[in-house]
Amino acid sequence: MRQLSVKSHQGTYDVLIESGLLKRLKHHINPELFYVIIADDMIPIDYVNDVKNACPDHLLIRFPAGEMSKSLFEFSRIIDIMVKHNIRKDAVVVALGGGVTGDLSGFIASVYSRGLDFIQIPTTLLSQIDSSVGGKVAINTTDAKNIIGSIYPPKKVLIDSQTLNTLDKRQINAGMAEMIKYGMIADKAFFEKIKNEDPSQDWDYYIHKSLEIKKRYVEADEFDNSIRQSLNFGHTIGHALETYYEYKKYLHGEAIAIGMVQIVSNPQIKKELIECLKKYNLPTSDPVSFDELKVYINRDKKGRKDLLKIVDVTEIGFSVIVKSQFKL
Ligand SMILES: NC(=O)c1ccc[n+]([C@@H]2O[C@H](COP(=O)([O-])OP(=O)(O)OC[C@H]3O[C@@H](n4cnc5c(N)ncnc54)[C@H](O)[C@@H]3O)[C@@H](O)[C@H]2O)c1
Repeated sequence: MRQLSVKSHQGTYDVLIESGLLKRLKHHINPELFYVIIADDMIPIDYVNDVKNACPDHLLIRFPAGEMSKSLFEFSRIIDIMVKHNIRKDAVVVALGGGVTGDLSGFIASVYSRGLDFIQIPTTLLSQIDSSVGGKVAINTTDAKNIIGSIYPPKKVLIDSQTLNTLDKRQINAGMAEMIKYGMIADKAFFEKIKNEDPSQDWDYYIHKSLEIKKRYVEADEFDNSIRQSLNFGHTIGHALETYYEYKKYLHGEAIAIGMVQIVSNPQIKKELIECLKKYNLPTSDPVSFDELKVYINRDKKGRKDLLKIVDVTEIGFSVIVKSQFKL
């Protein structure tokens, strides 16, 4: 088993990474508590059953898979179900699934009864290496991604890399975009390893290494006012692309791949990045113009007045936050 602990304003939480962990989940769950298990309707039923078996006292709530469920509609529908079932302050929310499930369930946990404890069981590569750690939880409005949200750290993150065996290749590759991001902004040797080796041969190592990098940024700047913004490399344009195409054309990681390529200013670094993204069948460009994306970039939650801050990579493994040359 690999392990990390992450410090947050609500205490330190453990992240456990182990192939086959779901089958041994009861060792990590207090059977005396009541659990609200939230999962989308596409997650393999075996995983849902593993969690149900480990949590004898539970309410299971399903929602339609996909980014469109990070919505006020799903948020209030799930809250209504919880109220109808008299879910009390001592219940624990379990998010079982990808980043959509983690973001939506975490946001519900952050506000229901002014806050319920919350456990992340991420099952996509993207959620295992990124969204389950760091406490960002959010939902979208029609025109703005993650605009309603909070920083609400989980009490525990339980990662079973074996769940990646059932995840389709496109989703795996979308997760690889965030892993490539870590190499680009913070660790050249990791970037080279991703470029030259096959991460599926040792998922636990790659998940742990990615989270070690994320942990450094999150602990240094939990509330995203300075250095944590480096993790947004490629995200300003990526989020704008996702919204522009109404979440239909690209998976999150695919949009980030294009966003990273667009934002890197050094041509040699751009070339190396493109080579690496292509190895994982990720898109590297899109025909939409910057002018068409401007309105969505302006709405990006990180925008402050007329200033757009962007993250550039000046050498692989080293990033800087700069004022953009783009005029909004
Ligand atoms: N909070 C953060 O810090 C943070 C960071 C990065 C991304 N995000 C968010 O994460 C979301 C994307 O998450 P995602 O890429 O995990 O997508 P997702 O949650 O939509 O999951 C993708 C699909 O995979 C299915 N699935 C999940 N696990 C599976 C498994 N093991 N086997 C088979 N199918 C499985 C799901 O049912 C779903 O249909 C976006 O909304 C993005 O904004 C949040």
